[in-house]
Amino acid sequence: MTDVVTDPLTTLAASFPSDFVFGAATAAYQVEGAVREDGRTPSIWDAFSHEPGRVANGDTGDVAVDHYHRMTSDVELMSDLGLGAYRFSISWPRLQPGGSGPVNTKGLAFYDRLVDTLLDRGVAPWATLYHWDLPVELEEAGGWPARDTAERFAEYAGIVADALGDRLHGLITLNEPWCSAFLGYGNGIHAPGRTDGAAALAASHHLLLGHGLAAQAIRAAAPETPLGITLNLYPTSPALPEGYDGPDRAAYDDAVRRVDGLCNRWFLDPVFGRGYPADVVEDVRPTSSLEFVHDGDTELIAAPLDFLGVNYYTRHMVAPGAYPGTASVEFRKRGWPTTAMGWEVDPDGLYDVVRRVHDEYPALPIYLTENGAAYEDVVSADGQVHDVERLAYLKSHLEAMARLAADDVAVAGYFAWSLVDNFEWAEGYAKRFGLVHVDYDTQLRTPKDSARWYASLMAAHRSGILGA
Ligand code: FCB
Repeated sequence: MTDVVTDPLTTLAASFPSDFVFGAATAAYQVEGAVREDGRTPSIWDAFSHEPGRVANGDTGDVAVDHYHRMTSDVELMSDLGLGAYRFSISWPRLQPGGSGPVNTKGLAFYDRLVDTLLDRGVAPWATLYHWDLPVELEEAGGWPARDTAERFAEYAGIVADALGDRLHGLITLNEPWCSAFLGYGNGIHAPGRTDGAAALAASHHLLLGHGLAAQAIRAAAPETPLGITLNLYPTSPALPEGYDGPDRAAYDDAVRRVDGLCNRWFLDPVFGRGYPADVVEDVRPTSSLEFVHDGDTELIAAPLDFLGVNYYTRHMVAPGAYPGTASVEFRKRGWPTTAMGWEVDPDGLYDVVRRVHDEYPALPIYLTENGAAYEDVVSADGQVHDVERLAYLKSHLEAMARLAADDVAVAGYFAWSLVDNFEWAEGYAKRFGLVHVDYDTQLRTPKDSARWYASLMAAHRSGILGA
């Protein structure tokens, strides 16, 4: 009998299929900087971050982590870590200034070089078309609440697919349309900072329509490119003790239904060809009669996809709102350990949410396109960042991925959020999600302990395949 290797890292690595993709993700406005260079025009995030009071500490993405100028060494860092894939996003106003008209050749040249550099280094390029940076001109023309924005998005998608599609290993239309619609136009904590429920619902529809139209344009230009969409999905549970069956149980279940409806099913159902869920259509009727949904839209939104991207950070625990008779709901905490974002660490939630998609929707390979944690990192006297909590977060969530794989759920890849510390939207630079620490004064990159652990896992996975 041969000795069985039992070291836990090797065991974890061996529990993923041999073609499982391990990667890390970023987004253009969060890392690139160079906002006025080579023909790039402003996006809604440039405008929003420069408005006083919108972003913590008045931070903006003007410089970010200067990835635009440091792309080559950043890709070297990725290959040193042994990343199998890198998910980046394309800045729409860098590629197509103003959001209409011809491609900006200098902007395209940057992404062209990025893709080729990644391929040279053995890192698979995955691109997201829309990670929240709408050109300001399109916002001035109505933004996502206007139908024309969906048409403009499809045109931009076609340009990218035509130019880069042959080399991309994955192309994602939208990142988290829930955030674009409801944080951007509903509660205004994200750009463009509008607070209009009806506009948010119209935005959600035109984002999904844009996704469907973009899918058509991408298939026409690059029929072989694996195509998907990334949704932020939340397992949603009643804020009640396990098994509780008191008289108010039904009110909690209804709160769960509402939150699950608007956060998850409002996006999953139409993407998977079921149209908008009837109960949520009723829930939102006081705000909007959805007159912006035209005949044929449902079919367009249901464009066939090659994969589903899921972003997971935490679970929603919900309770009926404080005002009986209204539709309000409350989000509660359980007193569990949280990340610096205040989000409870709940790896079983990752299992539950992916399992639910697998059980209730048609089978598609699922990629975790984002998962990670912000913590108050400290650079120690040895110059290193010993981010014990992030490492534990990463490990426990990858273990949940391994359980999904063991239970025959088609999980095909995992992208850690994020490769590097970066501009965390309304939180600015205060919240660090990186596997790699960035000193914002010097732009020095230092892999944290979590990055080293992830690199070992990827190395163990690779050697398991080679040894197999
Ligand atoms: C997601 C975003 C991503 C990052 C993480 C923490 O909602 O897609 O850009 O900010 O949250």
